[in-house]
Amino acid sequence: MEELGSKEIGIAILGLGTVGSGVWDILQQKSRQLQEKTGCKLKVRRVLVNDLNKQRNILVPEELFTDDFEVIRQDDGISIVVEAMGGVNPAYEYITASLQAKKQVVTANKEVMAKHSQEISAAAKANGVHVFIEACVGGGIPIIQPLEECLAANDILSVAGIINGTTNYILTKMIQEKSSFGEVLREAQEFGYAESDPTADIEGYDALYKIALLAEKAFKKRVPLHSVYREGITHFREVDRCFAEEAGYAVKLIGTAIRKEDGLDVRVQPVFLPREHALASIHGVKNAVLVKGDAVGEVMFSGPGAGSLPTGSAVVADILRAVKQQDMSGLIDQKAIEDVQIVDSHRAPYYIRLTGESTAGLMVLYELLKEQQASVCRFESLQAEPGKRQCMAVTSPLSEKQKQRIVHDLKKERADAGTVYAVRIGI
Ligand code: NAP
Ligand code: HSE
Repeated sequence: MEELGSKEIGIAILGLGTVGSGVWDILQQKSRQLQEKTGCKLKVRRVLVNDLNKQRNILVPEELFTDDFEVIRQDDGISIVVEAMGGVNPAYEYITASLQAKKQVVTANKEVMAKHSQEISAAAKANGVHVFIEACVGGGIPIIQPLEECLAANDILSVAGIINGTTNYILTKMIQEKSSFGEVLREAQEFGYAESDPTADIEGYDALYKIALLAEKAFKKRVPLHSVYREGITHFREVDRCFAEEAGYAVKLIGTAIRKEDGLDVRVQPVFLPREHALASIHGVKNAVLVKGDAVGEVMFSGPGAGSLPTGSAVVADILRAVKQQDMSGLIDQKAIEDVQIVDSHRAPYYIRLTGESTAGLMVLYELLKEQQASVCRFESLQAEPGKRQCMAVTSPLSEKQKQRIVHDLKKERADAGTVYAVRIGI
């Protein structure tokens, strides 16, 4: 057999759950190909877990396990740390301590990166190393490196996509197979798609972290998470599905970041998309990101948005980048990230559903829309059950703030308007 490069690169994997196991499996199964690609032997020297006594169906030698991060920090033979634990603490401390020990970091943890990218990037810069985040967004889809390198000739105008696998899986199954929300969420958890607390998925936090990271890469702007409108899928009901289906819409949780003159319009919310829209046919755990550049026009990246091996694929690609980075400084885009104003200037029609005792809420909606120089373009009303009427209206284009004001006033002024639910139509 041909002699391959003998230089050894020591790796530590923090976390051996869905992502960590995928990384381990790929590094073992492809060790020879990876050695050929890098000229180095990639050797996992340590695996950090929470519970050393847990039964695991993965064959990792006993002696590699530790629950003590100090062992990893102090090991000079480890030059790359893969963080696949999730959460903010202690992930943030372990990432910064690894960087301070001059180890490259590869992470799949979008939450810690979206909340602390400034401090983490500063620690990396101060120590002459890098943090690689391909697996933080879109699971197995290459999107971070394309934004940093392949689209470098462009001014990016917008980034929009389906960036949470769990919710896309849930919406797809609810719509195509009429499955119940709870049942499909459980499936997504069993497949390892969901976060350890799935609230992050279904309430849109995970997508918020991802769109913030995409915006940071695309526009070199730091997104203040608290200023972004975020809404998940927990209020989506069968009646909304029926309306969307009849009207020719697909339903997707969409994250968008659009460059505007005075800032960035960033949001995460369920959207009714015309069926011919490129994102409308992205189903199940698949994710897709549409990027609009001034030179290239529109490009779409799509693929599995979560799961062990797809995410492992993105992590291992970053490990290879980290190996190359050790010899080629300047590989990564070094432009400083600036603060940005979040604006709300992108208007769209809204679907508004009122569930109450009568159609009276609809009259209030007409008035509230009139105050905003808007109108109802289409409406339907049906008897949902005895004593309960559902009114569904489609409005003329509104800003997010106008919609929020109308929903707020409907709830406040008309308790008998019952529940009010609104979905944006189109991106
Ligand atoms: P997971 O299955 O819950 O695994 C987490 C792993 O981290 C477990 O092995 C756990 O140890 C270990 N861990 C947790 N806290 C720890 C601590 N304080 N000290 C030491 N070890 C600790 O999580 P996952 O789904 O792999 O996700 C990991 C990260 O990747 C998250 O940030 C997630 O958002 C991100 N991500 C996930 C996916 C996906 O498809 N799941 C895709 C892309 C990105 P024990 O095994 O001992 O409990
Ligand atoms: N929970 C995340 C999702 C994992 O469902 O998209 C991938 O980041």
